[in-house]
Amino acid sequence: MSLPAHGRGRDEVLEDLTARHSGDLPTHGGRTWAYVYDSGLADLDPVMDAARSMYAAVNGLDPTVFSSIVGLENEVVGTVLDLVRAPEGAVGTFTSGGTESCMLAVKAARDARPDVARGNVVAPSTVHAAFVKGCEYFGLDIRLVEVDRQTFRADPAAMAAAMDDSTMLVVCSAVSYAHGVCDPVPEIAAIAAGRGIPCHVDGCIGGWVLSWYRQIGIPVPEWDFTVEGVTSISVDLHKYAYTSKGASTLLFRDPALRRASYFSSADWPGYVMINTTMQSTKSAGPLAAAWAAFQHIGADGYADLARRTHEATQALITRIPEIAGLRVLGTPDASLVAVTSDDPDVDVFAVADETRVRGWYLQPQFAYLDLPRNLHLTVTAASLANVDPLLADLADAVASARTLPSAAPAPELVEVARALDPDTLTREEFAGLLAFAGLDPAAVTGSGLPERMAGINHLLEALPPRLRERILAEFIGLLYTPAR
Ligand SMILES: Cc1ncc(COP(=O)(O)O)c(C=O)c1O
Repeated sequence: MSLPAHGRGRDEVLEDLTARHSGDLPTHGGRTWAYVYDSGLADLDPVMDAARSMYAAVNGLDPTVFSSIVGLENEVVGTVLDLVRAPEGAVGTFTSGGTESCMLAVKAARDARPDVARGNVVAPSTVHAAFVKGCEYFGLDIRLVEVDRQTFRADPAAMAAAMDDSTMLVVCSAVSYAHGVCDPVPEIAAIAAGRGIPCHVDGCIGGWVLSWYRQIGIPVPEWDFTVEGVTSISVDLHKYAYTSKGASTLLFRDPALRRASYFSSADWPGYVMINTTMQSTKSAGPLAAAWAAFQHIGADGYADLARRTHEATQALITRIPEIAGLRVLGTPDASLVAVTSDDPDVDVFAVADETRVRGWYLQPQFAYLDLPRNLHLTVTAASLANVDPLLADLADAVASARTLPSAAPAPELVEVARALDPDTLTREEFAGLLAFAGLDPAAVTGSGLPERMAGINHLLEALPPRLRERILAEFIGLLYTPAR
């Protein structure tokens, strides 16, 4: 049993935890180019840690009991509304993250249209999967529209063609996760408004950076509430506002639409449940940490962080193509860079492995439709100091990758995998596939995935998305085998 028979002392518990955590990718220092956001400000964490722990046990479920959270949320949301140039009367909600913000935008759009039996959401194929999730959870159809193959931006005419009388929401990204580009928001919002359809702009990852770029005089596309027809916007704080994880905002031009994002129930014998978010009981810790980060960093601090992020991003965009065999996809608008290769001797998945060996994490992104496979880099303020060392190691990694044998999986393995049926896949079939791919399930649950992932990534990429989803869900299920 994992629960000790007798409680252990504080130091022993924390030592154990520290040892477990030591093998994780570093969250600070700018060597992990996805999932984490590092301001590089040494004194920020202690401020946020203290704020989060002060509010850790405060229950955000009831703002009438813990009244200080009302002021904190109104100040945090008000700051983001100002940043995205929301008109007077606009409102918002503090949520637990980007996915929750996007899903609540979908729920709001659905509940604002009770006249439609089964609605749909029109979005570019590059939209974050949070919208696919929202549609699945809230019973809507998602219509994914192909993007321009050169720019990776949404195609307004194709988006218009996908809209009909049951379209409840149109979505654009500012910017997209995969390629870091901003969709043509003014064109798409105008088309949606012309048909009376709300338009959500997903600024979860790019909204904060684009706004600060604009403030410091760096030209950015039009995307925020100054664009007529934009009805809601999501902006995460736990990304480029560098706040503790569990922090995002969902902003509405019209309070009536926010009202449709809420859940209320008086139909039971307990307290009347009014939830502004999908969680009910929730720690106010992330809200307090976000408020504290805003106070501690301030406008001048955020402007400086944006300047550093921009400098690092531009350096990478300019200098990555100087490494023979690599090129940047599209023209990134914010701080996300996707790097691909057209050279048959440079396998970007092998390059990812080679950089990993050198102490970096670049995130492999699979080919999708006819968009090429690539490596994703989330550039943060702390990345600036790492640009030169990363570029040196990247050049070295490309040179090594050229000498490696092909990581492409054996055709028989691909054939066996592709023959699996996602609807009926059994645990045994999955175990057989793992064994065929040379992975020992016991080793995977114990020590994680192998350091070299190129072969597995190629195999997964070769599978249809539904089968890939099913296999990876089975894999995650395997990882979460309870310890008893
Ligand atoms: C554009 C975009 N939207 C939504 C999300 C989802 O955010 P989260 O991971 O905080 O749920 C992300 C995450 O990277 C994103 O890039």
